[in-house]
Amino acid sequence: VITKPYSLKEEEDESDALAGKTKLTIFYGTQTGTAEGFAKALAEEIKARYEKAAVKVVDLDDYAMEDDQYEEKLKKETLAFFMVATYGDGEPTDNAARFYKWFTEENERGVWLPELNFGVFGLGNRQYEHFNKIAVVLDEELCKQGGKRLVPVGLGDDDQSIEDDFTAWKELLWSELDQLLRDEDDVNTASTPYTAAIHEYRLVIHDPSVTSYEDNIGNLANGNTSFDIHHPCRVNVAVQRELHTPESDRSCMHLEFDISGTPIAYETGDHVGVYAENCEDTVEEAGKLLGQPLDLLFTIHSDKEDGTPLGGSLAPPFPGPCTLRLALSRYADLLNSPRKSALVALAAHASEPSEAERLRFLSSAQGKVNKLLMLVVVSILALLCLCCAWTPVNSEFNFQDEYSQWIVVSQRSLLEVMAEFPSAKPPLGVFFAAVAPRLQPRYYSISSSPRFAPNRVHVTCALVHEQTPTGRIHKGVCSTWMKHTIPLENSQDCSWAPIFIRTSNFKLPADPSTPIIMVGPGTGLAPFRGFLQERMHLKEEGRQLGTALLFFGCRNRRTDFIYEEELNKFVEQGALSELIVAFSRESPQKEYVQHKMVDKAAEIWSIISQGGYFYVCGDAKGMARDVHRTLHNIVQEQGGLDSSKTESMVKKLQMDGRYLRDVW
Ligand code: 2AM
Repeated sequence: VITKPYSLKEEEDESDALAGKTKLTIFYGTQTGTAEGFAKALAEEIKARYEKAAVKVVDLDDYAMEDDQYEEKLKKETLAFFMVATYGDGEPTDNAARFYKWFTEENERGVWLPELNFGVFGLGNRQYEHFNKIAVVLDEELCKQGGKRLVPVGLGDDDQSIEDDFTAWKELLWSELDQLLRDEDDVNTASTPYTAAIHEYRLVIHDPSVTSYEDNIGNLANGNTSFDIHHPCRVNVAVQRELHTPESDRSCMHLEFDISGTPIAYETGDHVGVYAENCEDTVEEAGKLLGQPLDLLFTIHSDKEDGTPLGGSLAPPFPGPCTLRLALSRYADLLNSPRKSALVALAAHASEPSEAERLRFLSSAQGKVNKLLMLVVVSILALLCLCCAWTPVNSEFNFQDEYSQWIVVSQRSLLEVMAEFPSAKPPLGVFFAAVAPRLQPRYYSISSSPRFAPNRVHVTCALVHEQTPTGRIHKGVCSTWMKHTIPLENSQDCSWAPIFIRTSNFKLPADPSTPIIMVGPGTGLAPFRGFLQERMHLKEEGRQLGTALLFFGCRNRRTDFIYEEELNKFVEQGALSELIVAFSRESPQKEYVQHKMVDKAAEIWSIISQGGYFYVCGDAKGMARDVHRTLHNIVQEQGGLDSSKTESMVKKLQMDGRYLRDVW
């Protein structure tokens, strides 16, 4: 394999020092920052191992401003790695979407990347139907278009330990890179294990008299005309009300963000990203566990005092001066399970040796049971079961490693882990850099139409409040925040949040006379409420509407039939042709939306055959999968098709954008 030496002419922005080195690019497609973190960590490790490598980490969105520049730029790559996440319904992340579409859509480029050596690592979750789809497709396409695959595509599974998957993939990579990049005099030979440095921000503590950034928080994008994940816009909560009746043992909120006077614009079917806060109890507990006062005023910096960067894979610092209370409320993810790298950082700052040792064990590969040994034990046990006609309960056959068991399966939160290791008190610079990931925005399908509510973004959100295996009550960060918001209609001193809009392709047909079928149980109803508001508006404008069926599902008419009155009104006024509701807990037999679909099979088939659209919104793991199967069966039976013809027809519906899913 020949890799091109780095040429200064091609990339004038690079420093002279790179001349003669081998250029290596690491691309990332990230939604929550994990893929970006992996890309940066990989870059660091490559730099530490190979003197000869000139490594660059590139956000796929920043790679080329226009699509037609991709070709020219990619042709110059000889060694490239792609860290790409798959999310939602097997979709690329927002920052990878443009590149992915351009690279994978039909083209006449043929075999045009013969000089490219590549590797792909995917970040996904095996619980979802399209596990690591983006990585797999990208890997295949890179090969098809002439690239040479250096290592098999890595399939990171966030349901277990994605860091272990990444480590295993890197092991395969080193032997390949040794051949390409190792210099005789490289000191860090492959036999020297690489230990990632524990990152740390430089922390500056301020006098309490210094003005906190707090007063301006949320005005991050003031003066901006476009808002995105990095530039959210502060908006007030105008309305908040409970949608379930008091009889319900669960909670679901209707929230309206006031976007009047802001340049925020959205379309029916878009998503809103909301930056929420951790609740007060959580913040207080975190302060105690860190052993720091919450009114401590500080700023974090990712550069040294002389202005040179600290290096490493540090995320850009959050704004300061800011109190610890604010930093823990808005910027720290405290309730998810800690990653192994966080355990390493905690271990490094545990004063009690036994705690440090246990934390290191949890984060190590030794925490894993030897797979071969496991296989032998399982076989013996299986044999025993056969002989003694003994049926083991699930947990008796559980041989997962310690991290998976004690952290992932037990759903231990970062705070819970810190409470179990009280001597581990990392300095704040380490805590925010290496222990607590940045709190991510939460996305909601907007439940209004701008035609109906031009100054409002409506959200329909179920409260996440569930007991974990350790007995902890897990309270979802954003839904808990929403539950406790004070709306403008109740007080001038109302709640607010930084928000931004994420566009989606979950849209009504361009021609309103096209018939549609909507399936959305629970909060899956959200975008369809927007659709129906939009259809109502179109009707009032005198447009002719096609048939619209809505399959909604809830437990009980008396407790969680959300927006019941509104939905009935849509029927009365003609925006909705028929409302079909499945009540899952009104009779001994569970009735779900897909059962109601079977009752309406002929009508569904007729709508699809007329060129109609089929929409599904809601839970991806259970409901959307079952609805997909039911749709498949309906097409097969009603159309009198064999299984493979049915498969192609459903695929075609998806390709044509007539079968759309907004699932999570
Ligand atoms: P359940 O809670 O009684 O199981 C909204 O959450 C509705 O979706 C509830 O009535 C819920 O029923 C139902 N639901 C749960 N799992 C589902 C599945 N796999 N398919 C369709 N509906 C489901």
